[in-house]
Amino acid sequence: MKPPSLKYSLAPLALLAAMLLFCGNARAQYPEPKNDLDKRVLTFLQNQSGEWKDMNVPVTDGRILYDLVLEGNYRKALEIGTSTGHSAIWIAWALSKTGGKLVTIEIDKQRYLQALQNFRKAGLSEHIDARLGDAHELVPALAGNWDFVFCDADKYWYKNYFTAMEGKLNKGGCFAAHNINTRSPDIREFLRYIQAHNGFTTGFRTGSRAGISVSYRK
Ligand SMILES: C[S@@+](CC[C@H](N)C(=O)[O-])C[C@H]1O[C@@H](n2cnc3c(N)ncnc32)[C@H](O)[C@@H]1O
Repeated sequence: MKPPSLKYSLAPLALLAAMLLFCGNARAQYPEPKNDLDKRVLTFLQNQSGEWKDMNVPVTDGRILYDLVLEGNYRKALEIGTSTGHSAIWIAWALSKTGGKLVTIEIDKQRYLQALQNFRKAGLSEHIDARLGDAHELVPALAGNWDFVFCDADKYWYKNYFTAMEGKLNKGGCFAAHNINTRSPDIREFLRYIQAHNGFTTGFRTGSRAGISVSYRK
């Protein structure tokens, strides 16, 4: 019998190395807990990892949202598209440190109810005002002075969400949008709009393949 080639005999080792690297990175994505709330959120997120099945952001992107809030010392945050609350938990966790609060909007009642439960379990309910309703109506009706917006709902409406919020963002405030690597004409139109906007500086954060754009108000 012919012995396996070196390429194939090294394959299990390469797989093991990749798994170790992946686990190391996954651990590194969680911030060090500094107080009881941190420990509670962290325990919830670790127990729940692998259980997010409702189009929720991956951990890498959750950590990016957490960092964005802390970097800007943001306090007043809006999320469009709660689902069952993974990204909201990361944003609200950072807001628990800046003394802020998150308003998050979801149209689907089951997901909204599940999110409320998750917020309680994570110990973050007091930092989150979860609203059940159509963001097409609720977002334009919001009053001003926002620091941070995370847009993660219906892709074809992204540009409308942006135009509804652009004048309500404080100077230095950030409009972050998820799934911008999607090859949809609506997302491309949204990207063209934000990149050409004189009032905003737009860049991108490297996280999951989904992609996150970040547009800062000048
Ligand atoms: C990609 S998921 C959000 C995932 C969530 N940000 C997370 O990471 O946990 C998009 C959510 O937006 C909600 N959605 C879609 N259109 C909406 C609308 N017009 N108003 C409010 N929510 C909407 C969907 O029901 C869905 O739960």
